[in-house]
Amino acid sequence: MERQRSFSLKSTRFVVFSFTITSSIIFLTFFSFWVIKFTPFINQETHFQLSKPAVNVSLKPLTVQTLTGSRRNFTAPNAKNLILIDTPVNKLDKTSGFSNLSVSGDIQKEKNDTQVPKDEASKGDGLNVTSLSRGEESVPAPSLIEVQSNERLQEKKIGAASVEKIELPSDQQIKKENVRAASVQKVERASNKRIEEKKTRDCDITNGRWAYDESYPLYTNATCPFIDEGFNCMSNGRLDKHYIKWKWQPHDCDIPRFNATKMLELIRGKRLVFVGDSINRNQWESMLCMLFGAVRDPRKVYETHGRRITKDKGNYCFKFVDYKCTVEYYVSHFLVHEGKARVGQKRVQTLRIDSIDHGSSRWRGADILIFNTAHWWSHYKTKAGINYYQEGDQVLPRLDVSTAFKRALMTWASWVDKRINPRKTQIFFRNSAPSHFRGGQWNAGGHCAEATQPLNKISGFSYPEKNVIVEDVIKRMRTPVTLLNITSLSEYRIDGHPSIYGRNKRYSSNIQDCSHWCLPGVPDTWNELLYFQLQSKKE
Ligand SMILES: *[C@@H]1O[C@H](CO)[C@@H](O)[C@H](O)[C@H]1NC(C)=O
Ligand SMILES: *[C@@H]1O[C@H](CO)[C@@H](O)[C@H](O)[C@H]1NC(C)=O
Ligand SMILES: *[C@@H]1O[C@H](CO)[C@@H](O)[C@H](O)[C@H]1NC(C)=O
Ligand SMILES: *[C@@H]1O[C@H](CO)[C@@H](O)[C@H](O)[C@H]1NC(C)=O
Ligand SMILES: *[C@@H]1O[C@H](CO)[C@@H](O)[C@H](O)[C@H]1NC(C)=O
Ligand SMILES: *[C@@H]1O[C@H](CO)[C@@H](O)[C@H](O)[C@H]1NC(C)=O
Ligand SMILES: *[C@@H]1O[C@H](CO)[C@@H](O)[C@H](O)[C@H]1NC(C)=O
Ligand SMILES: *[C@@H]1O[C@H](CO)[C@@H](O)[C@H](O)[C@H]1NC(C)=O
Repeated sequence: MERQRSFSLKSTRFVVFSFTITSSIIFLTFFSFWVIKFTPFINQETHFQLSKPAVNVSLKPLTVQTLTGSRRNFTAPNAKNLILIDTPVNKLDKTSGFSNLSVSGDIQKEKNDTQVPKDEASKGDGLNVTSLSRGEESVPAPSLIEVQSNERLQEKKIGAASVEKIELPSDQQIKKENVRAASVQKVERASNKRIEEKKTRDCDITNGRWAYDESYPLYTNATCPFIDEGFNCMSNGRLDKHYIKWKWQPHDCDIPRFNATKMLELIRGKRLVFVGDSINRNQWESMLCMLFGAVRDPRKVYETHGRRITKDKGNYCFKFVDYKCTVEYYVSHFLVHEGKARVGQKRVQTLRIDSIDHGSSRWRGADILIFNTAHWWSHYKTKAGINYYQEGDQVLPRLDVSTAFKRALMTWASWVDKRINPRKTQIFFRNSAPSHFRGGQWNAGGHCAEATQPLNKISGFSYPEKNVIVEDVIKRMRTPVTLLNITSLSEYRIDGHPSIYGRNKRYSSNIQDCSHWCLPGVPDTWNELLYFQLQSKKE
């Protein structure tokens, strides 16, 4: 009897004891979930305490105290994150694509402070990003925001489905009760995504080297019928072949290899339009060649006006029938209008730096626009700025080229801001491509034909003033513009120019072309960067 009683007492105690332990564990588990889940909404704390439908959760009164204690440190960055989610669409609308380094700074902080649990995605070795995950990562700020707000929207929908007419925080809470496990996962996923985005955004693609890669080029003179004579070094007798086998390798990340099928899918039903000088034609031809590789029936790619590509004609539109897309080029040396005006007795050529190129109506409906201008802004080509630049009716007797360049770009920028719908059209600006004339200017014996290897160093390199102006103008635009920052990486590639292979050997000339680029060659890399950007924006 006694023993039995004591036994039952013991067992009761044991039961009570284990019950306490178990419930503590359960409680702690739920509490942790709760904390993780709630952290983003700290600054709406007051709201959800007041909102009735949500209060009904038994954990609540018990935990508020602890929560406020532990929350403060934990959640501050998330509160910031919330702000990031709520405001940036407008804010970023006003800044250009590349000017958002501050955002990435915030993300860095979030990452540290929230102490997101490590999982597969975040384990990814630091900056050594695989090309698969990359697509998601380098989402530029505007898309990042979209991703986040979509996710929130989704959450809100779920909430609204379970309970009608309650405030957002309550939504969140109820949903949390209902779909807790799922949403915890989701939060983790979202944070990981942000971290990865940060990783690639921090990757400075201009900081890298050219790596020899046998798997290049992506096409040859034999597989691409669109290389015009001026860039067709292979067909024009260039024998050394290394120059087509280099791949740009940033130190902190990889640029995915161009996938023509994927690119064509990205531009399905769209207009991809290059506008600029002959260097943009260079890049555009490269793009045609790279895309052509994925086309099975060559008859399904054609120039809509039947033009053969030569340097003399300005405008081309190639259609890829199966993808209902076009890849176009419009010549515009300055992006502003080249016209004529009377100066004294004579009618002279002028440049209307206050007026967009009159061809602009053709660019407008494009879905992706890649601009450039640089090479024509030279002393030589602008008549030294004497009686050349025009604003309104006035031909300016003298203006320096930097000022003129800046005013012209501002004219371009305001055209973009006024006429381009950023929801439809993505804008890129490719900055200047370097020339490599040695021993003289282009018209004074400058040469580069002896170069068959990239430069090891670009020690004397200074970022051209025109690029600084471009960046400055872009930064002030309302429309996001992505800079294709190819200047310094191309600077290494003294071996990439047509030099004496820019024309058929039949013609003799001692002028070498050390400005344009052989195809296949360096512009393929620019297009890989473009592809990379487009792909990341898509995700
Ligand atoms: C929540 O509280 C309401 C009344 O306040 C009650 O009717 C309902 O059953 C409670 N729900 C749960 C899940 O406790
Ligand atoms: C919380 O943050 C405050 C200052 O913001 C700091 O003094 C304190 O040590 C932090 N607490 C913990 C637990 O990190
Ligand atoms: C990023 O954007 C902020 C404003 O949104 C701006 O002040 C800052 O200068 C930009 N960063 C860069 C590097 O341009
Ligand atoms: C993030 O954490 C690392 C080390 O864990 C530290 O070096 C770095 O300063 C932290 N960054 C921020 C923004 O707190
Ligand atoms: C990236 O990872 C690969 C294999 O995991 C390794 O060989 C390479 O050295 C890494 N690169 C960097 C920059 O860490
Ligand atoms: C391509 O270039 C090679 C030399 O590199 C030349 O033999 C061949 O005829 C060229 N093909 C075409 C189609 O021009
Ligand atoms: C290119 O992309 C297509 C479609 O996404 C895919 O099927 C194909 O495997 C990719 N090619 C390469 C070489 O990665
Ligand atoms: C472009 O690259 C140059 C050097 O390569 C760098 O100085 C400049 O800041 C970069 N511009 C942007 C917007 O990243």
